[in-house]
Amino acid sequence: MRTPIIAGNWKMNKLNKEADALVKELVPLVKDAECEVVLCVPFTDIVTVRKAIRGTNIRLGAQNVHWAESGAFTGEISAAMLKELKVEYVIIGHSERRQYFNETNETVNKRIQAALNYKLKPIVCIGETLEERESGQTEQVLYTQIIECLRGFKSWDFDRMVLAYEPVWAIGTGKTATSEQANEAIAFIRDTIRKRFSLKIADKLRIQYGGSMNGGNVKELMAMEEIDGGLIGGASLSPAKFADVVNYK
Ligand code: 13P
Repeated sequence: MRTPIIAGNWKMNKLNKEADALVKELVPLVKDAECEVVLCVPFTDIVTVRKAIRGTNIRLGAQNVHWAESGAFTGEISAAMLKELKVEYVIIGHSERRQYFNETNETVNKRIQAALNYKLKPIVCIGETLEERESGQTEQVLYTQIIECLRGFKSWDFDRMVLAYEPVWAIGTGKTATSEQANEAIAFIRDTIRKRFSLKIADKLRIQYGGSMNGGNVKELMAMEEIDGGLIGGASLSPAKFADVVNYK
């Protein structure tokens, strides 16, 4: 019922020439994908990638957006700016933003609102750290993130939203959550959405898993009932490896 969505998060990688080459190699490899395919690229690659994906089944995403309309926010990018470049998706609240750039649930909430105002589709990231998991706080942390990040949104806002469960300890570490761990956390997230918002929203909302997902573990993860896709870091930097994830069936 929920269309799977596999998104690459290039993070701070790929100069224009490399981005162009990667996409050109990727296009034929994923053209028959049965899932939605998205590339979330650095701001400086947006125009290059938009040209390279024209007429293909690949969708364009960015990795952050500021909440203000415009103004004195040196180094930031507004939702209107992304919309102007025909960006469709935008990652919000990635754990690297939270860890290194003081992103909070409150700023995530404001960024989501700004993205929605411009009809961008937010990919909202949540997830616990290793310390939080080991001290038995996973559900509490996820609960607080859901409540605070999604505060104030209406049922129609969720039509454009995707959530990504990314346990911080699984990102870039080669240490994937087991399919059971990922499924269990995502089931908890969906259940919380059901209780806080509605059954209909929870049923429709796509929730990805992210954290060392690759061609070797994608099949097992995607076979789990609650997992609707993946947010792929490292493996999205190579066309062949990313295609292996996209063509998981
Ligand atoms: P890795 O796939 O490199 O672990 O990164 C996951 C991630 O952070 C995607 O947003």
